[in-house]
Amino acid sequence: MFRHSQLESVKSWLTHPASAALPLHARIQRAIRQMILDGAIAPGRPLPASRALAVSLGVSRDTVEAAYTQLHAEGFIERRVGSGSFVADGSGFPVRPRRQSSGAMVSPPALSRRGTMMAMGGGVREAASPHPFAPGIPETRTFPLALWERLQRQVMKEAGTRALLHGDPQGVEPLRRAIADYVNLERGARASPDQVLVLTCAQQAMMLCATVLLDPGERIYLEDPAYYGARRAFEAAGLDCVPVPVDGQGITVAPVLDDPRPARALCLTPSHQFPTGATLALDRRLALIDWAARQQAWIIEDDYDSEFHYAGRPTACVQGLDPHGRTIYIGTFTKSLFPGLRIGYAVLPPHLVQPMTAARTLLDGHTAPLAQLTLARFMEGGHFGAHVRSMRSLYARRLDVLSGLVRRHLSGRLEAHCPAGGLQMACGLTDATTEQAAVEAARAAGVTLLGLSGLYADRNSPGISGFLLGFAAYTTTEMEEAVKALAGAFGRLRGAGHS
Ligand SMILES: Cc1ncc(COP(=O)(O)O)c(C=O)c1O
Repeated sequence: MFRHSQLESVKSWLTHPASAALPLHARIQRAIRQMILDGAIAPGRPLPASRALAVSLGVSRDTVEAAYTQLHAEGFIERRVGSGSFVADGSGFPVRPRRQSSGAMVSPPALSRRGTMMAMGGGVREAASPHPFAPGIPETRTFPLALWERLQRQVMKEAGTRALLHGDPQGVEPLRRAIADYVNLERGARASPDQVLVLTCAQQAMMLCATVLLDPGERIYLEDPAYYGARRAFEAAGLDCVPVPVDGQGITVAPVLDDPRPARALCLTPSHQFPTGATLALDRRLALIDWAARQQAWIIEDDYDSEFHYAGRPTACVQGLDPHGRTIYIGTFTKSLFPGLRIGYAVLPPHLVQPMTAARTLLDGHTAPLAQLTLARFMEGGHFGAHVRSMRSLYARRLDVLSGLVRRHLSGRLEAHCPAGGLQMACGLTDATTEQAAVEAARAAGVTLLGLSGLYADRNSPGISGFLLGFAAYTTTEMEEAVKALAGAFGRLRGAGHS
């Protein structure tokens, strides 16, 4: 059980004005996370049973369960079937030494509202050592490192100590040119090198859009379900995220077109909707472009993994179809090359280039020139195209393998929704097992599962339980072992009556 002071601390987060926009479970989750980070609950210590905590806080048990599930998914707590929940050992997160004497109440730190939203959102942390089925991670073990190293040496030889100085905050010209050529040719975009802003990642581009294009309190449409990084960026900027349902053809347009209170912006993953994998239908793209032009609204197009499309060519991007200059196109090399590169980009309407570039200088100045120049050379030499082609056929085979394994070993429990592209596959739960119980059982069996329900605006909507299984970064043997471990874990779960 929590001590009185700890319980009061959770209650103070429940009533804190900065968390007013958050659902109850998120407030509880963030309060407990803060106590863990502050060292107020030590690694290994038990958390109260969800039923008892629910009674103490005057909320439903489901609400506390949802908070625990999220803490578990983020690695802050461990859940042991039959014995309860415990603070994780702390190796995966930075515990701050406690400043207060033991027993003192840990209150939320005195941050700005925005700072509080960012801290409570928890940011975006991806797996540093991926194992099945952590989603969204490319295969890096076969990356042509020797070639990259050679190109980097060439750059250093030619640029000499110039490569050690500050660079253009918009990005080095050869890379902007290579990116413009790539998106024009492969993605049907309309981009000149002057419209390209080289950034650290897609996440930075979303954060820039959130702060440069909209004011706190303004509305933005978000796909439902949506990419958690986008949602957290927009929430942290104080935007009012309006969920718009997604179906088999991507985001539905009627809620946008018929809304009497049009939002200022719309964020989309049209190539492969995250997480469903749906491709946005052409008529919907055109309707949304027309809407944005009429409302003078922005379309933020997150084209995060369109390089990997397995059935023919991917549909042209929205930016290339938009004659009105209302679309901000976001790309990243996190998926197409490797996440540690930290290079992403935005293709901007011309009049946004100066304000966005100025805003990025306030965040991180510019992207490291050496990495940019090496990447430009990698692209100019045709190596980027070759790498993507070889990864595309590898990932297509791996997708095939995974859907076969799910059919063979998990039928009756999981239904695979084979996507047309991307690095991950959504699977729906088809038996009575709850998503949370399945995630925990999988974790105990050494398998990482990202639950789908947490990606929805309302995680309690019926019919949304399932998982997003990454496949790109894992070999056939790794996936086979993990699927068999999952089948065993789910079987034990059913045997123990945890459904
Ligand atoms: C839909 C989506 N957008 C953006 C990103 C983030 O890419 P980056 O690493 O460039 O921020 C991801 C990464 O998982 C993603 O899944």
